[in-house]
Amino acid sequence: MSLADIGVVGLAVMGQNLALNIAEHGYTVSVYNRTKARTRAFMENTGPLSITPFYTLPEFVTSLSRPRRILLMVRATAVDDVLKELSGMLGPGDVVLDGGNSYFKDTMHREDILGKQGVYYLGVGISGGEEGARYGPSIMPGGEPQAYDLVAPILTDIAAKAEDQIPCCAYLGPGGTGHFVKMVHNGIEYALMQAIAEAYALMRYVLNMGTKDIAEVFHRWNETELGAYLMEITVHILRKTDKVLDRPLVDVILDAAEQKGTGMWTVEQSLQLGVATPTLAEALYARYISTLHIQRQTASKLLPGAAPIAVESSQGVINYIREGLYASMICIYAQGFALLGMASKEFQWDLNLQTVARIWRSGCIIRSRLLDPIAMAYAQEPVVSNLLIAEPFIQALGRAQAGWRKCVSLAVEAGIAVSAMGSALGYYDAYRTSRSGASLIQAQRDYFGSHTYRRVDKPGIFHTDWQKD
Ligand code: 6PG
Repeated sequence: MSLADIGVVGLAVMGQNLALNIAEHGYTVSVYNRTKARTRAFMENTGPLSITPFYTLPEFVTSLSRPRRILLMVRATAVDDVLKELSGMLGPGDVVLDGGNSYFKDTMHREDILGKQGVYYLGVGISGGEEGARYGPSIMPGGEPQAYDLVAPILTDIAAKAEDQIPCCAYLGPGGTGHFVKMVHNGIEYALMQAIAEAYALMRYVLNMGTKDIAEVFHRWNETELGAYLMEITVHILRKTDKVLDRPLVDVILDAAEQKGTGMWTVEQSLQLGVATPTLAEALYARYISTLHIQRQTASKLLPGAAPIAVESSQGVINYIREGLYASMICIYAQGFALLGMASKEFQWDLNLQTVARIWRSGCIIRSRLLDPIAMAYAQEPVVSNLLIAEPFIQALGRAQAGWRKCVSLAVEAGIAVSAMGSALGYYDAYRTSRSGASLIQAQRDYFGSHTYRRVDKPGIFHTDWQKD
């Protein structure tokens, strides 16, 4: 029997689709899943592809050519158990790839442990959902470069290709880099989703537009520089009718947004690394508040809201919302990339932000037209400190900011929470402020705690006895 090029452990939807994708690219694949029934069911749909099922781990491992390449597609909480089972069966030079949404520090730790046996461990962020896994995801690998070289042909073959045919997969850096980048991808994902949901809510509840009409607006925006996968799926979602109740399906879905933790890790990291990502944080908090569904029902009866507002021109307001959404999208990417930049410095990853932008252009959930100018901005030397001050975005924000302000103030007046668009505007204004109120905070700190302050006119550390005149 000839030995397989790669093995996939875990046949949930992502594992199944990746196995099919890899086999379709001409590779021989062994598969293993803890529950045998799932493996059998999967094998009924593999057709003529070179996929061989195994029902025990030792047989699965023996079926692989050396160095063995094993892609784990299991829940983050199951990774350690699988590694424990695999540990005695692997040898020096073998490569284990974790393709799930593992926490990057766990990945760094696992790499160390397996490294002691000479086994390579790659933390590989994979984005694109089921469809991406099957037909081309965006792949974010991190770990030892030699290990990456052993799997690079497979990964780049199965990855999505951008319009210029460049694969959306590139080596990102050591240790947990790949999973960190995927984590921030998800933080950005949460924030983009929240901003789009706010644009929807404004059209729905302030302009009283129907879902089909809102779908048309998003459809038109999607053809412009706001084009994004999340916008595209929003159009499809808003056009869907629930057959049971004969109402827009979006109206039938409970408005309690869940999450599996990657957005929360992103915000935690922004706090740890001291990088402001307010819109990513607000998107997470908005999900938390949304889940207080029962409390919100009560509060909606007890707490007064804004009086209905009269809108002169719906089209005018739609234009403001468009500017608000577009500018917020720029701020969201800017915050995510700022976090990546700081993590790279802190962990000495030498992460190339242009590469990150390039591999996000296709296949992943946050793919959008903005990623081309972002990649271009990071190609310039010296590397720009924040995307807001990269050339194309200075112009874009300049054009959008007046409408953006109108959009946010209209939302405030109408009593619609726009925490993503509002916090993005706060970020923009705070970042462009040359003289802020923080001098007063420094004075207060020095007043009550002798924390000292620096002066604008000379170097050094100063303290004032504030009680004396
Ligand atoms: C992707 C997605 C996916 C991710 C969820 C986040 O890139 O394909 O980011 O990997 O885990 O979309 O899920 P929650 O909203 O449940 O946290």
